[in-house]
Amino acid sequence: MGKVLVTGGLGYIGSHTVVALQQEGLEVVIIDNLYNSELSVLDGIETITGIRPVHYNIDLRNKIEVTRFFENNEVEGVIHFAASKAVGESVESPLLYYENNINTLVYLLQECSKHEITNFIFSSSCTVYGEPDVLPITEDAPVKSAMSPYGNTKQISEEIIFDTCKSTILQAISLRYFNPIGAHDSQEIGELPKGSPQNLVPFITQTAAGLRKELSIFGDDYGTKDGSCIRDYIHVVDLAEAHVVALQRLMGKKNLMPYEVFNLGTGRGSSVLEVVAAFEKVSGEKLNYKIVGRRSGDVVSVYADTTKANNVLGWQTQKTMEEALESAWKWEQKVRGL
Ligand code: NAD
Ligand code: UD1
Repeated sequence: MGKVLVTGGLGYIGSHTVVALQQEGLEVVIIDNLYNSELSVLDGIETITGIRPVHYNIDLRNKIEVTRFFENNEVEGVIHFAASKAVGESVESPLLYYENNINTLVYLLQECSKHEITNFIFSSSCTVYGEPDVLPITEDAPVKSAMSPYGNTKQISEEIIFDTCKSTILQAISLRYFNPIGAHDSQEIGELPKGSPQNLVPFITQTAAGLRKELSIFGDDYGTKDGSCIRDYIHVVDLAEAHVVALQRLMGKKNLMPYEVFNLGTGRGSSVLEVVAAFEKVSGEKLNYKIVGRRSGDVVSVYADTTKANNVLGWQTQKTMEEALESAWKWEQKVRGL
């Protein structure tokens, strides 16, 4: 059996997926240019699985290097995580996002076509749905006009993959992640945001660890149960498992169509205030927070209908949000030496 290429395999979701793939007996090779990750992640992966994956420090924007990689490596499937993901930065530097998220995808798909690699998994996002009309949201819900260049790159990427599946032998699955949180139970790998975290849970854990003075909660005047925004927080280990299932689906030729899309969430919506309360409960820490104004571009409420992922993909979550928050907190404590 050939190798599985995991781009962005040293990143947050990629590293957990590498572990899950290796634990399933698959051979993994990683491309990651350390743009948003550390080489030490390889140590964490090796400690968990006993296998140090081969890592190439290649910038996927470098077409020549990407071509050379595929000439030298026999690959049976690709899981493409590598991308830039900061929404605010994408508004300030849209071309950086179009280059890093779109060019890299095109180069990879060109190589897949050249080397007749048919199995391709793509990291998409629930951001493609924008503000949903109906909740929970199904895969058939309309893709709304993107709220940021980052969101637009996910929409465009899905279209590029869909078009490629129509005209080549490519078989692909886009996985639309809701809000991944938490860390591996071993505390060997987890989320390592560079600079001030933009996402809720790393901001919470850094505040509890004393790195940030207080958490700002962006609005308590929405039309939700307690006025704060609602999201679907999914444990990153559950999310990682879904990639193994999706890849096996393609490798086993069990997919029903050349291009498929699945929501990856828990199906449960939790408000920001509920997340804070759950964190305080599992950590035993009192969190310093204040309510501030709404964050521009925030969706009020979004959570997944997971019926398709459960019944068609054959995957479901095993872990609770509380377990995810507890693992995130343990990871933060370990990283900070607390
Ligand atoms: P991450 O930043 O932790 O991981 C991405 C990895 O890709 C990093 O290790 C980075 O160094 C690498 N990378 C980026 N550009 C590269 C390039 N040009 N060449 C080689 N390597 C490159 O992000 P993540 O949270 O693990 O997200 C993975 C994917 O999932 C991304 O596509 C992201 O858009 C998508 N996604 C993430 C979330 C989330 O909340 N984390 C939600 C929805 C979708
Ligand atoms: C954000 C992005 C989304 C991206 C996802 C994963 C926006 C508008 N959306 O989603 O495109 O796919 O990250 O990277 O940025 N919150 C606070 N205080 C904080 C941080 C967050 O109250 O300091 C709130 C937010 O208002 C939101 C919730 O917590 O209601 C979750 O926020 P976040 O973790 O940033 O994720 P999303 O907004 O869902």
